[in-house]
Amino acid sequence: MLWRLFHWSKIQRYNHPGQRGVEPWALVTGASDGIGKGVALELLSQGFNVIIHGRNLTKLQRVREQLNEQHPTRSVEIFVWDATQPISRGGKNLSEAVLASVGSKHLTVLVNNVGFTSTYHTFASQDPEEIDAVVTLQISFVTHITRALLPELAKNEPGLIINVGGLTGLFPSPFLAVHSGGKAYLAGFSRALSIELELVREPPTDIECLHVDIHNVATNSNGSDAGFLTPTPETMGRAIIGVVGCGRRSVTAYWRAEATELILKLLPRSMMDGIMAKEMMKMRDRELQRAAAKRDD
Ligand SMILES: NC(=O)c1ccc[n+]([C@@H]2O[C@H](COP(=O)([O-])OP(=O)(O)OC[C@H]3O[C@@H](n4cnc5c(N)ncnc54)[C@H](OP(=O)(O)O)[C@@H]3O)[C@@H](O)[C@H]2O)c1
Repeated sequence: MLWRLFHWSKIQRYNHPGQRGVEPWALVTGASDGIGKGVALELLSQGFNVIIHGRNLTKLQRVREQLNEQHPTRSVEIFVWDATQPISRGGKNLSEAVLASVGSKHLTVLVNNVGFTSTYHTFASQDPEEIDAVVTLQISFVTHITRALLPELAKNEPGLIINVGGLTGLFPSPFLAVHSGGKAYLAGFSRALSIELELVREPPTDIECLHVDIHNVATNSNGSDAGFLTPTPETMGRAIIGVVGCGRRSVTAYWRAEATELILKLLPRSMMDGIMAKEMMKMRDRELQRAAAKRDD
């Protein structure tokens, strides 16, 4: 916690022109809404041009208009790809599509944010096709998009990769077994890559790889109201960019969430499992009520 007193964001380290004097770009996945949109907004404020990724072209175009209105001197482009769609062997189809979208832009930042709004099923009753979708989105998509863009980031170094995790990676939750596994994968992948990027010195690669933990955020899909422990997506976007260059491989982005997490980590694991179970039961009940209200309409 105290480290925050002596830290300020090092995001400007990645806001550098290419050899041809071109402006830097960032790519944010899942940026048509929620936290991804908040991160895109903050990157625009910090002087980057941004490629926003999502699955719905019309929605992305609407978001691009909003972002352009707020930052008329910056450029916003769109990358459409349904992150649950099957990825070919070796990630070739995704790799070709994302590299075509990046083109000759001077990409220095990749934010892996896209997440699946899983419903609160028991694992046994989860639709097998939904399981495939979660695994593709949370494991294959993030892995192959990072693999495809890593050479671009290395070419344009210094570069930055931010991987947006979640509390379920740290405290796996009932009714979200596959989702929790996906977030734990992301945490492990991110840490291993971060260490590897420091080890590889032939040629040296100056890429920061940061895993950020997120707790509750008042996004449309989450449905919670903003409050003391529940920031808006814009606040969370600023918090995520705020921790860049903190010298850690994994960090909780929002300081109030970090304080909560420190307390939670002191609790015996069985007590923590009980707390998570209670929370998940409440969320599951809320979801069932919403589904019932929809049916009655
Ligand atoms: N909100 C929270 O409380 C919370 C807590 C912990 C972790 N997180 C993590 O934070 C990240 C963002 O969450 P969020 O709450 O901001 O989510 P969100 O509001 O639902 O936004 C998700 C974004 O991803 C896009 N997306 C979803 N499925 C996609 C797909 N199959 N292909 C392409 N794009 C897709 C959405 O597009 P559409 O606009 O088309 O839906 C949207 O732009 C996720 O990784 C999530 O796990 C969030």
